[in-house]
Amino acid sequence: MQTEGAWNEGGKGPSVYDTDKAGRKAIDWKIAIDNYHDFDEDLDLMKAMNMNMYRFQISWSRVVPDGDGKFNEEGIQFYEHLVEELVKRGIEPMICLYHFDMPLALAEKYDGFLSREVKDAFVRYGKAMIDRFADKVKYWIVFNEHNLYFTPTAYHYAGIISHNELTDNEIYTTFHHTMLAHAELAAYIHETKDALIGGMLAYTQIYPATKLPLDNFLVHKVNEFNYWNLCLVYSFGHYSKEVMQEVINRRIDMGWQTGDEMILKKGGADFISFSYYRSHLLDGTKIDETSSAIRYLNQGFLLDDALPKNEWDWAIDAEGFRYSLTELYSRFRLPVFPIENGIGWREDWDGINEINDDYRINYHRDHIQALKDAMFIDGVEVLGYLGWGLIDIPASSGNIDKRYGVVYVDSIKHDQRDMKRVLKKSYHWFKKVLASNGDDLE
Ligand code: BG6
Repeated sequence: MQTEGAWNEGGKGPSVYDTDKAGRKAIDWKIAIDNYHDFDEDLDLMKAMNMNMYRFQISWSRVVPDGDGKFNEEGIQFYEHLVEELVKRGIEPMICLYHFDMPLALAEKYDGFLSREVKDAFVRYGKAMIDRFADKVKYWIVFNEHNLYFTPTAYHYAGIISHNELTDNEIYTTFHHTMLAHAELAAYIHETKDALIGGMLAYTQIYPATKLPLDNFLVHKVNEFNYWNLCLVYSFGHYSKEVMQEVINRRIDMGWQTGDEMILKKGGADFISFSYYRSHLLDGTKIDETSSAIRYLNQGFLLDDALPKNEWDWAIDAEGFRYSLTELYSRFRLPVFPIENGIGWREDWDGINEINDDYRINYHRDHIQALKDAMFIDGVEVLGYLGWGLIDIPASSGNIDKRYGVVYVDSIKHDQRDMKRVLKKSYHWFKKVLASNGDDLE
């Protein structure tokens, strides 16, 4: 929904992003950067910049308008065409099956992934897409930023529209359903195709706010619940013992059914992918230890005054990126793949001069260097590096004033202008970096 536009064309059904009823700022999603109507110019820009991989989402409600039942061939053809055009240009596609845009019909009828029926419908949709595309697409992701479904704001990602104050039972159940879906689709790919499937985390490096033992321990707790619990499934096919102990202690009903254990067991991943933008601190004094540990991160979040930040207070921390890569790999021994990295910045093109985005060049240079350090000093197996939004797209807030691109799209907050593509200074820098496969970062 951040690229395609054409929210109600080509047989697409509405998703939760297309309606204010679901509480979204829907305007910019409806057009986004209009890739549904024309992606050729963008793909040409990618090729000319030496990009050799592109990750995109198949929009569930574009290919199954009601989320379940009849498939929309016209929607599927759109992605067929996109894959063909990518491959033609030597750009390897990576498909993500779900990036938060639950079909509205399933949100209204079942409250999204809170319901097991929706999990089943999602698996049907996922298997059909795998059957259709896995001969041309080798890299697959099931859920974007899967750990976000195991947090108090899970409603936002999982298509739960009836209420926002989720109970512990509801958070656990929603997450469990998505994890089952991941595992079922992973098993399906492994049993039937020659393709790879990745887990995917929203990874924020977290440091203790003080040297106190409690802060250090609570950072462990948050890591275990927010990250390792998923990685244990990706690597070993089971949840964390600590998390399961909380289920017993708090008598949590997570909708567990006979057979779920076996589903998870067969649902390992081939790699761990993640988004990385920033780090922050955890302040133990703000955490209520009588609550579930899935709530600690929201309670204890603290900004680090020592680090530089962008306008949205996202701390810039390349060392944290190396730390994430190295820790993930050393603990779980699956290849790691950062598939989102970049810096959001407010930019407004004057119509004449090139946008001088040295801040973006510096950000990517430092992060790619950190990735090289993880590989060559720490021995981490890294599959690749994908930047986020390298052609400007609306941010998750719903408008385009927070930009990540190396290509400017001339569109400002609900005023689409002509959407002209304009190269920023960082485009030329990236072109050189990619031509040298990261050797030349100057
Ligand atoms: C990730 C999401 O959380 O971060 C993207 O996968 C999002 O959808 C990106 O756009 C950057 O966040 P934001 O809020 O700056 O757009």
